[in-house]
Amino acid sequence: MQLAAAALLLLLTSISPSPPLAAAKSTIEPCSNSATCPALVGYTLYTDLKVSEVASLFSVDPISLLLANSIDISLPDVENHILPSQLFLKVPVACACVDGIRKSAAVTYKTRPADTLASISAAVYAGIVSPDQIRDANPNADLSDPSVIAVGTPLAVPLPCTCFNNSDNNLPAVYMSYVVKDVDTLSGIAARYVTTVSDLMNVNALSTAEIKDGDILAIPLSACASNLPKYSSDYGLVVPNGSYAITAGHCVQCSCGPGSRTLYCQPAPLAVSCSSMQCRYSNLMIGNITAQPSSGGCNLTSCSYNGFVNGSIGSTLSTYLQPRCPGPQQFPTLIAPPTSLPDSYFAPAPSPSEAGGIPSTNPKSVVPSTGVAFGLPPAGGPAGSASGTSNARSLMDRVTAFPVALVLGLVAEFVLSTPL
Ligand SMILES: *[C@@H]1O[C@H](CO)[C@@H](O)[C@H](O)[C@H]1NC(C)=O
Ligand SMILES: *[C@@H]1O[C@H](CO)[C@@H](O)[C@H](O)[C@H]1NC(C)=O
Ligand SMILES: *[C@@H]1O[C@H](CO)[C@@H](O)[C@H](O)[C@H]1NC(C)=O
Ligand SMILES: *[C@@H]1O[C@H](CO)[C@@H](O)[C@H](O)[C@H]1NC(C)=O
Ligand SMILES: *[C@@H]1O[C@H](CO)[C@@H](O)[C@H](O)[C@H]1NC(C)=O
Repeated sequence: MQLAAAALLLLLTSISPSPPLAAAKSTIEPCSNSATCPALVGYTLYTDLKVSEVASLFSVDPISLLLANSIDISLPDVENHILPSQLFLKVPVACACVDGIRKSAAVTYKTRPADTLASISAAVYAGIVSPDQIRDANPNADLSDPSVIAVGTPLAVPLPCTCFNNSDNNLPAVYMSYVVKDVDTLSGIAARYVTTVSDLMNVNALSTAEIKDGDILAIPLSACASNLPKYSSDYGLVVPNGSYAITAGHCVQCSCGPGSRTLYCQPAPLAVSCSSMQCRYSNLMIGNITAQPSSGGCNLTSCSYNGFVNGSIGSTLSTYLQPRCPGPQQFPTLIAPPTSLPDSYFAPAPSPSEAGGIPSTNPKSVVPSTGVAFGLPPAGGPAGSASGTSNARSLMDRVTAFPVALVLGLVAEFVLSTPL
């Protein structure tokens, strides 16, 4: 009886139409160089999961995952903490360049009993990747019947990600791929992530502020950039405002904000053996700053982190004069590992004070016309911003629309150049 019910369920799930992905849009970034860049994927847990389980879904380090969400890592056994279903997390991913498009290259998923391509897409990865994208990324896996996948099949999961040179309006930024929910509005998202509607439209090459359930947006989060030497293994480290990153073999943690755009690194509170974090010719440790009021202002001496090179932690001692002595270093608030959803979770309506309006001085306030959608970078915006689609039909619309626009342009030019 139970077996029959299970078989029926299997049958029903296999013949029921796949989720309405047909009209979902996704922002893609063309790329040419092979360097990876830091990005985030916004993820909503489909069930209660351990920290380590979420981390393994995205092939990331659990400590990085926790710190990206400002969750305290100093508690014992924090990796086995169970996070509640529907919790939203920012997952740090290395954004690679695959076949000319930015996506994650390093994420693999081992299939479990009852997995189907549709369930892996919609449930496990919460809509961030479509069944077709998973299929296309695994040409050698037997996915001929997407409802029957051998248990333990390793599947590459090409998560959408963008970097746009890790800048937005010429300021450091980290981009988060975000699956739009039906309750979302562009202004709500802009307010929640301290950006503007026009910036979101520019970045995603949207011609209107309309967004749909299942669309995937790139959301720029303001960030602090590092200035580490090219030869260090963590060159290019960028940390979003309000969060932490761990580096140098779990020895150093760096944070951004709330009050400053300067990346601040200090020894991490983990019990791991680390090479010396003391600056040479000084008794200062990485993160130590001494301030001495002097006649010319404030004489600051700081020992700062300078990259992880060949397994050793680089540090730099510098002395400089500033008009005024700085206040104490501020840190993003660390939270305890969540055990339940925050009260206001289902209505992330921002307070009016933080509602992101459209400042008239915003250099990106020009709303892109549909013509921009084909890949002209918005003025002053991230280069190479382009709107793609996760399905063939609307991609075809774009492709066919392009020559039409070209022809219209030629006609216009012809008319203009015709002597009267
Ligand atoms: C990328 O950003 C850096 C500064 O963050 C800038 O110097 C460089 O010109 C930018 N490159 C492109 C291609 O926009
Ligand atoms: C950084 O985050 C803090 C809250 O943690 C917020 O008040 C501030 O506006 C943010 N700054 C930027 C530049 O986004
Ligand atoms: C220097 O940094 C270490 C490690 O973060 C800290 O324990 C110590 O209190 C700091 N010393 C001063 C003088 O700030
Ligand atoms: C600033 O402090 C450093 C070390 O304490 C000292 O060597 C330097 O002379 C000072 N500079 C000024 C302008 O006071
Ligand atoms: C790192 O080590 C390799 C050999 O072990 C050496 O060739 C290289 O110069 C080192 N890099 C730096 C920046 O010290």
